[in-house]
Amino acid sequence: MSDDIHFYEPRDGHRLPHDPFNAIVGPRPIGWISTRSAAGALNLAPYSFFNAFNYTPPIVGFASIGHKDTLRNVEETGEFAWNLVTTPLAQAMNQTCAPVPPEVSEFALAGLTPTASRVISVPRVAESPVSSECRRTQIVQLEGAGGVKVPTWLVLGEVVAVHIDQALLRDGIYDTAAAEHVLRGGGPADYFTVGPAQLFRMFRPT
Ligand SMILES: Cc1cc2nc3c(=O)[nH]c(=O)nc-3n(C[C@H](O)[C@H](O)[C@H](O)COP(=O)(O)O)c2cc1C
Repeated sequence: MSDDIHFYEPRDGHRLPHDPFNAIVGPRPIGWISTRSAAGALNLAPYSFFNAFNYTPPIVGFASIGHKDTLRNVEETGEFAWNLVTTPLAQAMNQTCAPVPPEVSEFALAGLTPTASRVISVPRVAESPVSSECRRTQIVQLEGAGGVKVPTWLVLGEVVAVHIDQALLRDGIYDTAAAEHVLRGGGPADYFTVGPAQLFRMFRPT
């Protein structure tokens, strides 16, 4: 076996100061998920095990590692909104991951403004330039290769409404670089952002 390669089988441990898994599968978009409990309490939390999974209908999903408030709220109401995290919102996003009791609204904690959605009953983050209103489609409890269930739930939802700040539409094209998306790297604290310097174009073979 080559000494140039660090090899490990995750079930036996990675033998590194930090698990490299989420640094390698990264940087990842952040699903900043707002929900409401059946009793009416607002909730907002970041989920970087988050991505898009389908075009038509558009479907997004995030993984709740543990049975967290966001998951419970989606189970109760069937709705969530996801809000884009941009560089000016990074600190506020970070504050919303605080482990607070369900009755405490992370909107208030982070000084953010809940604003009404148009199709679902869960509010969006007014300060975020892009948000999507989503209806739950599936909640899948994950299992390992041996078929043993793990305490992680993949929450999938159809995007039923989208809000985009007009300033981010250049000739009708969404300008990802201008929006300064915040992306999660690995380790305890790594984040990335993207700008025009990271943009290159490559068309598919025809
Ligand atoms: C950038 C970032 C990404 C996170 N991604 C996840 C994730 O994908 N899954 C998860 O379960 N927790 C994730 N967390 C931790 C949750 O945000 C945290 O546990 C939060 O308190 C959950 O809130 P809730 O109980 O109100 O849903 C992340 C935290 C941060 C700061």
